[in-house]
Amino acid sequence: MATVTFDKATRVYPGADAPSVDKLDLRIEDGEFLVLVGPSGSGKSTALRMLAGLEETNEGRILIGDRDVTTAEPKERDIAMVFQNYALYPHMSVRENMGFALKLAGMDKAAINERVEEAARTLDLTEFLDRKPKALSGGQRQRVAMGRAIVREPQVFLMDEPLSNLDAKLRVQTRTQIAHLQRRMGVTTLYVTHDQTEALTMGDRIAVLNYGVLQQVGTPRELYDHPDNVFVAGFIGSPAMNLATFNVLGGVARLGAASVPVTLPDGDVILGFRPEALQIVEESTGIPVEVEFIEELGSDAYLYGNLAGGGWVSEGVGSESTGHIVVRTGPRSGITPGDVINAQVAEGGLHAFDAQTGQRL
Ligand SMILES: Nc1ncnc2c1ncn2[C@@H]1O[C@H](COP(=O)(O)OP(=O)(O)O)[C@@H](O)[C@H]1O
Ligand SMILES: [Mg+2]
Repeated sequence: MATVTFDKATRVYPGADAPSVDKLDLRIEDGEFLVLVGPSGSGKSTALRMLAGLEETNEGRILIGDRDVTTAEPKERDIAMVFQNYALYPHMSVRENMGFALKLAGMDKAAINERVEEAARTLDLTEFLDRKPKALSGGQRQRVAMGRAIVREPQVFLMDEPLSNLDAKLRVQTRTQIAHLQRRMGVTTLYVTHDQTEALTMGDRIAVLNYGVLQQVGTPRELYDHPDNVFVAGFIGSPAMNLATFNVLGGVARLGAASVPVTLPDGDVILGFRPEALQIVEESTGIPVEVEFIEELGSDAYLYGNLAGGGWVSEGVGSESTGHIVVRTGPRSGITPGDVINAQVAEGGLHAFDAQTGQRL
């Protein structure tokens, strides 16, 4: 087992004006499951491929344990990858697919069989060992792809959006299985996804990337409760945090008809509050929201609305942001589209960010 260290690791593709991964400083602890998350094009796959040795590191260093592998060949790095497109060999059985890398490495047949059978037990694939991939479901094929990585007993697992090709239900099941499996095996893992829900549910820690720049690293709880900047605030959480620029004067932050008491100096500030931090109140104070539509989830409901009288400009950049003000309520609230409700931010539910830099205040 091993730690992984990115030390100011930078990748600039030939002809590009900006780095795709920019001075990345990141340490993955021994046995840790670290999720690298960010929007499409943020440099996640590039970072992972740099660690794998499939992409050159132009500046900085990459270490596995104490070993500087910055210029090492991929096969010298003792890692195994699972990709989004985990093409299996169609003419080979599950057993042969899983053992293929070991066969190429010259391992003897009995040893290969032992490892493959052990991995198959772990992955619930024993009864499928003699089938061809075409006779497997999508989820089973995905597990065979995992099995190919596991049998190599690498120091580090790398996974790049391995669940993207599965349907929604299977994705939820498989993400739980992968997270359990990783914890049981205790192999240091770097897992890449654009899906913040996967990041929150699977990772020991999450690293958020945007335009090749690391935004924040922390536990799911730390990122959710204490985002370091507007980008992380808007990216982590679904529905997204409500974010907009307010103007503070004399201890009250105002935007259109909305007013929020604050202990901040006068001037512009970006305020954020999550849907569950808003409480509906009887008084006509706080944030008046004209409800546009309601998402009923059974256990609770989300009201999507606009600031009554207008003027709300969402600073949320996450893919989950619809530009609305979102309020979580209980089910059967009796509120219908067209109603105007008044919301207040609950104690401790307010996040404030610098209007220019977006950094947390
Ligand atoms: N082989 C390549 N040549 C040139 N530019 C690339 C190459 N691969 C990726 N890029 C660019 O690098 C950036 C990061 O890409 P990538 O690491 O694939 O992002 P992600 O995996 O987060 O979607 C993007 O702007 C992408 O266009
Ligand atoms: Mg990618």
